[in-house]
Amino acid sequence: MNRGIKEVISEFPEVGQILEDFEIGCTPCLVGTCLLKDVVEIHALPPDQEAELMYRVEKAIYPERDVQPPETGAVKGAEKAAEITYSAPVRELVDEHKLIKRWLSLIPRVVDLMNRSGLDRQLINNGLDFIRSYADRFHHAKEEDLLFKYVDESQEIIQAMYSDHITGRGHVQSIVKGLEQDDMETVREHLFAYRELLTGHIKKEDEILFPWIDRQLTAKNIAQLSADFSGVNAGAGEGFEEKYQVFVTDLEKLVAM
Ligand SMILES: [Fe+2]
Ligand SMILES: [Fe+2]
Repeated sequence: MNRGIKEVISEFPEVGQILEDFEIGCTPCLVGTCLLKDVVEIHALPPDQEAELMYRVEKAIYPERDVQPPETGAVKGAEKAAEITYSAPVRELVDEHKLIKRWLSLIPRVVDLMNRSGLDRQLINNGLDFIRSYADRFHHAKEEDLLFKYVDESQEIIQAMYSDHITGRGHVQSIVKGLEQDDMETVREHLFAYRELLTGHIKKEDEILFPWIDRQLTAKNIAQLSADFSGVNAGAGEGFEEKYQVFVTDLEKLVAM
């Protein structure tokens, strides 16, 4: 339980497959220094699934042991997680993800549009403004400067989120460079890379990280976080969020034409 998960998977590859059966994606994770016990704790499976997971992992690692299957064995593979309930401030972040996901889902059609009519600087610059101002300066700052401060930031799951944010900023810089050099291929490549990165990132936050953080927040923490988020919203200025709602809605109409 106290060994790094990547080390366990490299010695016992079957463990990676077992985790994937429970929708725990450790194998593709780039960091991978979580301890096996943290992986189990962070993902918070229902007790019968956790028992089944641990049984299968133990069997894979110690095939010579006479390990008894749990009494109420879960079916292979995780059932879809029940509807997750978030605290109010965390729900605010999940709602912001919805707008970011709407923009991410438009990227293939934006690229398609440019494939037909050439590099559209205005279109890309508006998208970059959405990423930088809304997704990064507004939304990611709430996570990095406020939410993550309530948990142990040295935990790998938090480090992985920081690393995704940094990688995303790198893609933005590459898109800007592509625009400066009239290099459509670079713009296209990094738009798609950003889309893939953020799609996975948001899924991890919504389904794993945020429920894990919520389990650690006290009522006092939640009240403080709500007040801090209200401060960020007010600081962004009147009409800030509406401006980006309109941007995404208008773009949805444009690409549908
Ligand atoms: Fe994030
Ligand atoms: Fe987020």
